[in-house]
Amino acid sequence: MDVFRIEGPVRLSGQVPVNGSKNAALPIMAAAILAEGQSSLAGVPNLSDVRVFVELLKSLGCGVERRAEGDMLIDSTMIDNPVGDYEIVRKMRASICILGPLLARCGRAEVSMPGGCAIGDRPINLHVRGLRQLGAEIHLKNGYVIAEAPHGLTGASIFLGGSFGSTVLGTANVLMAATLAKGRTVIESAACEPEITDLANCLNDMGARISGIGSPRLVIEGVSQLKPVRYTVIPDRIEAGTFMVAAAITNGELELVNCRLDDMMAVVDKLRGIGIAVEPKGNGCTVAGTGKIIPADITTQPYPGFPTDLQAQFMALLALAQGNSLVIEKIFPDRFMHVAELNRMAADLRKEGPAVVVAGVEKLVAAPVMASDLRASAALVLAGMAAEGTTTINRVYHIDRGYERIEERLNPLGAKIRREEAP
Ligand code: EPZ
Repeated sequence: MDVFRIEGPVRLSGQVPVNGSKNAALPIMAAAILAEGQSSLAGVPNLSDVRVFVELLKSLGCGVERRAEGDMLIDSTMIDNPVGDYEIVRKMRASICILGPLLARCGRAEVSMPGGCAIGDRPINLHVRGLRQLGAEIHLKNGYVIAEAPHGLTGASIFLGGSFGSTVLGTANVLMAATLAKGRTVIESAACEPEITDLANCLNDMGARISGIGSPRLVIEGVSQLKPVRYTVIPDRIEAGTFMVAAAITNGELELVNCRLDDMMAVVDKLRGIGIAVEPKGNGCTVAGTGKIIPADITTQPYPGFPTDLQAQFMALLALAQGNSLVIEKIFPDRFMHVAELNRMAADLRKEGPAVVVAGVEKLVAAPVMASDLRASAALVLAGMAAEGTTTINRVYHIDRGYERIEERLNPLGAKIRREEAP
């Protein structure tokens, strides 16, 4: 397993392009299952999670071809095995989003249940509830979800909210299935994340009839079939937010290219409150440290609230604030694997249930640390660039799941990150 050796402190400066969104690309790749024929996607990032999903699509019978940078062809003419195998699904929870499209296309689907992961358990009760309301017979057997709808699906009015609010991939599954259901479906308390908006726009380009896009209430008029699509996925707002924190935590200045500030209003608002300068520029923005880091309180919420996927990165930044901050995680209450690791780097973080009190310190100090979930791992990279000395991050594969060659993109900006084969 690779390790990162990160020398700090450094100060980043320069221009960095933002890649296509992993969390938009994965459900859109699943949507290709709905239409017989070849779909052509652009802006699909080259990440290990995407490579796992390609393996999954091929196991279903799809042909998948990677073209030039970011382009991908998916031929779903032959889906002869509607089974999402445990050996593949266990590598990535998001594989569950093939359930809805397989059920709608083939009338049946077997998908291994996603296990738990570093950010907590990943229930799918809302996915199941929504698909059952569309008429699917669903039961769990030997760790697999088995869904059947031999006579097709029927539109329904579905409330999809759960105790943590909306579900992103649950909305994706029910939305994709509803596009081919007979009649009208209303999804109330749908996820409003930009990645769901992107999926809905892609589905409409395939001939679906979805309205209310971007709102918590989606209305879908079922159609008899969809057609293959040519589509470009949106930029990755979480990668963009990670680069913004990289500029802030190193007191540097970065220009982000291909970044949609309109998708990131909660993030930009929080950065400005922390004293970081963020200005629109072209199709992106500039982000600059101002020599101070003002303490802030962060509560993660469903979109348009502050995204849970940037909680760890902002905690690394607030660890260096002039005073105390409070970080409350409302989406995945256990998503604090980074707390102990940042404390090894001389941060002063105290977990109190679903909250962490962040007492700002003067500086972070390099230490050997362990990557866990992909966003916590990114937070350790950010902390390593600000810390004094050489930080070693183990299990770097977690980072590769969500960030394409991150060291090759940060080093030209002034970072000093070496990837080494672990002994
Ligand atoms: C998506 O996961 C993202 N993954 C996650 O990003 C992101 O953290 C999450 O949404 C929240 O924004 C992808 O898009 C591939 P949820 P998802 O269903 O859809 C509970 C990353 O770092 N819940 O919106 O699986 C659940 O336990 C990843 O890129 C139920 O209770 O998350 C959680 O508390 C990590 N029952 C909350 O809802 C269900 O049936 C939100 O989960 C489904 C979810």
